[in-house]
Amino acid sequence: MRQIRIGDFRIGNEEKEAINEILGTGHISEGVKVNKFEKLFAEYTGTKYAIALSSGTAALIAGLTALKYHKDYGIKNNSRIITTPLTYIATSNAIVLSGFEPVYVDVDKETFGITPENIKTHLEQVDDISKYSLILPVHLLGYPNDMSSINKIAKKYGLNTFEDSSEAHGTMINGGKTGSMSLLSSFSFYIAHNIQVGEMGAITTDDFDLIKLIRKIKANGRMCDCTICTRKNGGCPKIAAYTGEDDFDPRFTHEFIGYNFKTMEFQAALGITQLKKADWIIKRRLENVKYLNDGLEKHSDMLKLPKYDYNISYMGYPLVIKDTKKLTRKYLRTELEKQGIETRPLFGCIPTQQPAYAYLKNKYTGLLPNAEYLGSNAFYLGCHQYLEQADLDHIITAFDKILSTFRGR
Ligand SMILES: Cc1ncc(COP(=O)(O)O)c(C=O)c1O
Repeated sequence: MRQIRIGDFRIGNEEKEAINEILGTGHISEGVKVNKFEKLFAEYTGTKYAIALSSGTAALIAGLTALKYHKDYGIKNNSRIITTPLTYIATSNAIVLSGFEPVYVDVDKETFGITPENIKTHLEQVDDISKYSLILPVHLLGYPNDMSSINKIAKKYGLNTFEDSSEAHGTMINGGKTGSMSLLSSFSFYIAHNIQVGEMGAITTDDFDLIKLIRKIKANGRMCDCTICTRKNGGCPKIAAYTGEDDFDPRFTHEFIGYNFKTMEFQAALGITQLKKADWIIKRRLENVKYLNDGLEKHSDMLKLPKYDYNISYMGYPLVIKDTKKLTRKYLRTELEKQGIETRPLFGCIPTQQPAYAYLKNKYTGLLPNAEYLGSNAFYLGCHQYLEQADLDHIITAFDKILSTFRGR
């Protein structure tokens, strides 16, 4: 039977050559390829700088930690961050693990992101704005948040923005790419994402000081902040500037308490090959969403089909069950899986539906109706670039078969 996976990654000649080139050099830890990827990715997103990290989760944590250590931002522990309840758990985990408090506002039912109206309403009711530092929206499944409105609100309240663009490489909004409109933005190149390498993340920003800090944080807080180490040929600027007598080595002198979030040359090399294909990947996904929407239109009484917009870089093909008394997500997902069609639930409403956040359940029950509805009744399938016509037709036929049982009930 056909297997329709959420995402797919093909190792072609280009990818093999990229890996073999690294094996040939014998240098596999962070180096020239990571640096090249960072330059290309900054260019791609339209930001001044990008920095590669081991994962999207690492990117979020390193970015948030940098905002704590930065001389101007200096965000305090327990500071509140307005964010979305409907996302992959890593966004909230990163906030909590970095010592901040997530504050959830409800999402839009069609685009799955937190709305400027909900953010504004929340902020209007806040008694002490100094408890807040950031707004951290997530461009879920590629659907962009309205960053220009969110930035305006942030500015009014003296807050910064941090986009989690892990699922939206290449999505356009307000005349730019997602991940280019905030103080910091994070990306994930996990295997099921729009641009994939397996495991890797990145941060983009226009702020050079933040980049230097993140370079340190991702390497256990060591003093080094060069893109490529020049120590071997006697070119270490930190050693050159050091006036002390002792045997100073910036690689083992740590300014901050940090993490090991470094990535490897392999991932960066694969990332470079995928960036070259980015336009094609996004176009193929758009075509697939359009084809599926046309084919499934006949079921739009039972399923809410995804909003189609050529500015979106689709990570998946989301569907929302309309009448949950007639049709349940569990039934539909089980039947689709039997037909070889992989699906994923739309993550769940974090404070009320995720066990790890049960401590917030009472506080948020009833306050996030859209996120709760989508968390229980939305799911997505793959719309990736390697799906063929027959795969798309298989999906449509599977829905026709499964849903025919429900017609007229
Ligand atoms: C919205 C979002 N944020 C963060 C992450 C974390 O990325 P990673 O899996 O690369 O750690 C993901 C991963 O799926 C994600 O979808």
